[in-house]
Amino acid sequence: MRTTTARAHPNIALVKYWGKRDEERILPAAGSLSMTLDAFETTTTVVPDGDRSADVLELNGRAADAEQTERIARFLDHVRALAGSAQRVIVRSHNSVPTGAGLASSASGFAALATAAATAFDLDLDNPALSRLARLGSGSACRSVVPGMAVWHAGDDESSFAEPVRAPDMRMVIVTVDRGRKPVSSRTAMRLTAATSPFYPAWVSSTEQSLSEMVEACQTGDFTRIGEITESHALRMHALIQSTTPPIRFLRPASVAIFDTVAELRSNGLEAYATADAGPNVAVLVRPDDAAALAGELDDLGQVRIVGPGPGAQLLPEGLEVPAATAHKGTAQGGTAQEGITQEGPA
Ligand code: PMV
Repeated sequence: MRTTTARAHPNIALVKYWGKRDEERILPAAGSLSMTLDAFETTTTVVPDGDRSADVLELNGRAADAEQTERIARFLDHVRALAGSAQRVIVRSHNSVPTGAGLASSASGFAALATAAATAFDLDLDNPALSRLARLGSGSACRSVVPGMAVWHAGDDESSFAEPVRAPDMRMVIVTVDRGRKPVSSRTAMRLTAATSPFYPAWVSSTEQSLSEMVEACQTGDFTRIGEITESHALRMHALIQSTTPPIRFLRPASVAIFDTVAELRSNGLEAYATADAGPNVAVLVRPDDAAALAGELDDLGQVRIVGPGPGAQLLPEGLEVPAATAHKGTAQGGTAQEGITQEGPA
């Protein structure tokens, strides 16, 4: 075994994943499609640590809480089972965006961890196998293993992984309206949706339909169709989530105002389409040439950032590591990539 470090980026879904048909293996009720971004990365180092009896998680330079550590340990059990090993490890992870704020930090987090841990445990996994492994940490993480546009097949345990899809070059303007932790986790909210929403069966069947239309629109380069499906699928998901008992609402008035502004810009000739994951922040899809103008229009509605398609999960060269907690106090809320990584001597 060896110390390894990997980096992965979050993804924003254009056809959303919401609901599992198998909680244990994290098999989705329907397929989904997303863009892996070129910003907001997570960098994770896995350190095999002698005869420790439990895994340790350090998140953004601080010891993580018991719940976060337990989730990582359960994921590492899958890695250990594949490797036939009982080795416990120290995981040091650094997010460049706040954890749990609906900017998909669990996707970048588990994609980076799966990639680093697979190599640390000497597993030789191809991309589909790595995507399947990341899926066991957090469903949407399987798409962050893949660069750019990725389709995640519903499938069974063997066939449920993400792979690249040809698509036109596009940008997203991310509008951050709130950096706080979301009140309910995706996992809990999904479970409640499947258990209580009368609309859930229609959501599952219509999502398969949206996905096949979206894949075709991507392959034929039809930006307008991609955008229309993106916005209507996002609003359907939020309507579905609001239909639970008790109701859950992730969108805020500030989020809705962005959807309204985007619709107005569109009617004035700036073609853009809004979406939001399980949180109040909004991502607006736009052609590359219109991204700067769109960002200018949305500037007073939140903090804006233009992002594009980014790389899949990658191992970093040996010696680049997320520093240990003791050497790196005070960035619990995230910082820049430069803050999150140091050049260490080879481990
Ligand atoms: O992978 P999870 O459990 O964080 O769920 C992600 C769910 C959404 O972000 C709302 C939709 C998606 O497809 O990414």
